[in-house]
Amino acid sequence: MVKKTVFALAMALALPVAAQKEASVTLKVKDAKEKINKEIYGQFAEHLGTCIYGGLWVGPDSKIPNTQGYRNDVLQALKDIKVPVMRWPGGCFADEYHWMDGIGPKEARPRMVNNNWGGTVEDNSFGTHEFLNLCELLGCEPYVSMNVGSGSVEEAAKWVEYMTAADGPMAKLRKQNGREKPWKVYYIGVGNESWGCGGNMRPEYYSDLYRRYQTYCREYSGNTLYKVASGATDYDYDWTATLMDRCADFMKGLSLHYYTCYTWSGSKGSATEFNDDQYYWAIAKCGVGVEEVLRKQIAVMDQYDPKGKVDLLLDEWGTWWDKEPGSIEGHLRQQNAMRDAMVAAFSLNTFHQYTKRLKMCNIAQIANVLQSMVLTKDDKMLLTPTYYVFKMYVPNMEATNIPLTVKCDYFDAENEQKNSARRVAPFVSCSASKMADGTVNINLANADLKNATKVTINLDGIKGKVQNAQILTSKNVADHNTFENPNLVKPAAFNGAKIANGTLVVDMPKTSIVCLQIK
Ligand code: AHR
Repeated sequence: MVKKTVFALAMALALPVAAQKEASVTLKVKDAKEKINKEIYGQFAEHLGTCIYGGLWVGPDSKIPNTQGYRNDVLQALKDIKVPVMRWPGGCFADEYHWMDGIGPKEARPRMVNNNWGGTVEDNSFGTHEFLNLCELLGCEPYVSMNVGSGSVEEAAKWVEYMTAADGPMAKLRKQNGREKPWKVYYIGVGNESWGCGGNMRPEYYSDLYRRYQTYCREYSGNTLYKVASGATDYDYDWTATLMDRCADFMKGLSLHYYTCYTWSGSKGSATEFNDDQYYWAIAKCGVGVEEVLRKQIAVMDQYDPKGKVDLLLDEWGTWWDKEPGSIEGHLRQQNAMRDAMVAAFSLNTFHQYTKRLKMCNIAQIANVLQSMVLTKDDKMLLTPTYYVFKMYVPNMEATNIPLTVKCDYFDAENEQKNSARRVAPFVSCSASKMADGTVNINLANADLKNATKVTINLDGIKGKVQNAQILTSKNVADHNTFENPNLVKPAAFNGAKIANGTLVVDMPKTSIVCLQIK
C-alpha cells in the first residue's frame, strides 16, 4: 500500500499532468435570426492535379467502378455529405479554359496544356456536359466560373446560352451533343482572382470588364442568373471597396479568397509534420484570422451597400501546405491530418456567425488537392479528417444560427516565418443552430493539444435530450488517414455530454471536435 502511494506520488511529480480546463458558452436563443445557407458547405472542383481526372472522373471505360465515368466511391462519399454547390472549372484554370474545347465527341476534343498547374496536358474529356451532369447526379447547384482573363465576351455569352437556352443556335449545338433539355445554372462567376492569375488587373479596370462581361450573360428560357464578381484576397480591402463602388448594382455576389497557410513564398510547411507553435498558428489563422477578415470585408461592403443586396461568397478557403513528398510539382496534392479537421471546425463555426452577408463558401478542393474531402490513388479512395467534419456538420445546413459567446483560455502562437503578426486566439470554438423541427445542433472544437476541457453551455431555455453525439479526435494531431490505414481518424459515438438544470456539460478530450443534437 505504502509502496503504491509512493509510486503514484513519484509518477505525479515526474510527469506533466494534463489539467482539466474549464470553458463556458452562453447561447442567445432570442437573437437567432439568420439562416445558415447550405451553400456555406460548398465545394470547389478545379482542373488541378488529379482533382478532376482520377479524382472525380475516370471515364466510362475505366476498370475503376464508375457511373457514366464518375467514380462510384467518390460519388457515394459526396452524396453522404450532401454537397450543396460545386464551383468549376477553377480557380486559375478558369481564366485559361475555353469551353468549346470540352464539348462534342471526346475523340475530337483538342488537348490542352494546363499552364497554371504543372503544365499537365489534359484531353478535355471532362467538360461542360460532364460537370453539369455530375451536379445533377449529386443534386447540387453548379457554380460555373467564366474565362475573363484570356477569353472573350462572346465566348462567355455563348457558354451561358449553350448551358441554359431552350432554343437558338447554342441550344441546337447542345442538342446535337446529346443534351436536349437546358440545364439550370444559377451561379456564374465572372473571372477568378482577376488581380492575379486571372489577368493581373487593377480593380478599376476589372470593374469595367466585369460590367461588360456580365451584360452579355443573359437569362434564357426562365433560367435566372446569380452573377458573382471576382473579389479580393484576404486583407485587400481596396479591391472590395472599388468593386462595390463601381459594380454593386450589377452583381448579386462578390467573392473573397482566404487560405490558411504560413506564407505565399517558399515552403508552406509539411501537412503531417509540424510543431505545436505551427499548429496553434494555423488554428489562430482560421479562427480569429478569418473572423477579422470577414468582419472587415463585410464592413467595407456595408458602407456601399447598407441594405445588404450584395452577398459575400468565400469561394476559396482551406489549408495550403507543401505538396505530398513524391507527388508531381504543381499538382498541390496534400495530406489531410487531424489539424486540418480542427481548421475546418473552427472555420465553419466562424462562418456560421456571418451568414447575414456570407452566403456561400467553397473549400479548396474537393479531391486530391489542398484541403480535400477525399484522396484517391488508382482504384482506392480514403475519406479525410476534414471530410468527417463536413459530415458531422450536415445538420447545420439551412438551420438558423444561434448567436453565442464563449469564455475560455487563450493561446499565443507566433508564426515561425515571421511574415505575419503573432496571434492570440481562444482554445475553444463553438457554434449552434436550430433546425426547422426545433432540433438544436451544438458544434464544439477544443484545439488544446494537452488539456481536456469541460465546457458548460447555458442553453437559454432550450429543452430536450442529447442525441446523435459524435466525436472526432486522434492520439496525435498530425494523425491522418492513408491507403494502408484509412480509418485512423474517423468519428465515434460520444457519451461525454449531459444536460442538467438547463445546462449542457460536455467533457471535451484534448484536440477534439464534438457535434451533438438536443431534441
Ligand atoms: O486553389 C488553388 C488556387 O488558389 C486557385 O486556382 C486560385 O484561385 C488560388 O490562387
